[in-house]
Amino acid sequence: MASPSDTGVAERKMMAVLAGESVFPPPIWVMRQAGRYLPEYRATRAEAGGFLDLCYNPKLATEVTLQPIRRYGFDAAILFSDILVIPDALGRKVAFQEGEGPVLEPLDLTRVGELDPSAIHERLGPVYEAVERIRGALPRETTFLGFCGAPWTVATYMIAGRGTPDQGPARRAALPHPDGFARLIDVLVEASIAYLARQIDHGADAVQIFDTWAGILDEYEFERWVIEPTTRIVAGLRAIHPGARVIGFPKGTQALLGRYIVETGVDAVGIDWTMPHGFVRAHIQPRVAVQGNLDPMRVVIGGRALDEGVDRVLEGLGLGRLIFNLGHGITPDADPANMARLVERVRAARR
Ligand code: CP3
Repeated sequence: MASPSDTGVAERKMMAVLAGESVFPPPIWVMRQAGRYLPEYRATRAEAGGFLDLCYNPKLATEVTLQPIRRYGFDAAILFSDILVIPDALGRKVAFQEGEGPVLEPLDLTRVGELDPSAIHERLGPVYEAVERIRGALPRETTFLGFCGAPWTVATYMIAGRGTPDQGPARRAALPHPDGFARLIDVLVEASIAYLARQIDHGADAVQIFDTWAGILDEYEFERWVIEPTTRIVAGLRAIHPGARVIGFPKGTQALLGRYIVETGVDAVGIDWTMPHGFVRAHIQPRVAVQGNLDPMRVVIGGRALDEGVDRVLEGLGLGRLIFNLGHGITPDADPANMARLVERVRAARR
């Protein structure tokens, strides 16, 4: 078997932080780093046709994954895909309409029995091929992240058929029909474990579970639809790949984050920009690594607003285990030059 130094793993700064070390300056990558703010992304996207055509084209998905690595030399690359390939692979119709976001055929809970989580891999073959190509093309020192959506967040899109401001349709389905909703969550847990395990088989170093809508639930629903399924995914994945490194991103959870990190067993947690650094230092960083948490608006504005934001994250969280990132994805209106300024400032930082 190859030793970590042969494979370059020993040089992967972000893997060191996931293993429990504090590194300064911290490793940096950015959610949605391959996205519409980059002209080269827009060009490849136009060449691919539809958004899902890009996700299922191994050559072009590899190309867009690598674009931000070439431009900025981030410490991690994230597989270019989307959380909604899982509903698509489960046979639900998914479309991405220009300027409108995703549109799915809304799912009625009485139809959950028709979804077969063991049948996803055929549709996802091109994604696994992309994972392999990407690992082969990345610099040795670059960490390669796979990902999936968390069951709760994916379920909100499956039930509503679109993005909504408050996830009303899913909450309206789950509260009166917890057993039916639990069957959907079970399907998504099983599919997510199988999907993430294959990503690791094909070359991903670690994985992130995106739970964008975790923060909309009360404590009891959070326990049932966020903590419990995420715990099963982490344990299920580690039953296949012992020691698999997992980053959870339950956006907007505030004080409930304490329970999330203890109960799920994640190695790191993504935090959005509303999380106070003092709370994170006291309650989160002693137990797991944190990833975040610059307000993406500061990258849009640039200049002093950007510099100050970067310095505050480094001062507030830089003494502990930190992976520098934004608190959510970079937005299409960000100037690529501001991203370069951000990376330079983080890399030039001294304790
Ligand atoms: O971070 C990366 O660079 C990896 C690729 C990635 C995408 N989506 C590409 C994408 C990842 C990790 C995601 C995750 C994702 N997708 C989430 C969770 C994280 C988050 O941002 O909250 C969610 C909720 C989705 C579902 C989704 N996909 C929505 C709501 C939209 C439309 C909104 C938008 O920004 O347009 C998408 C489309 C999407 N996924 C784009 C990209 C680059 C833009 C589509 C385009 O290029 O036309």
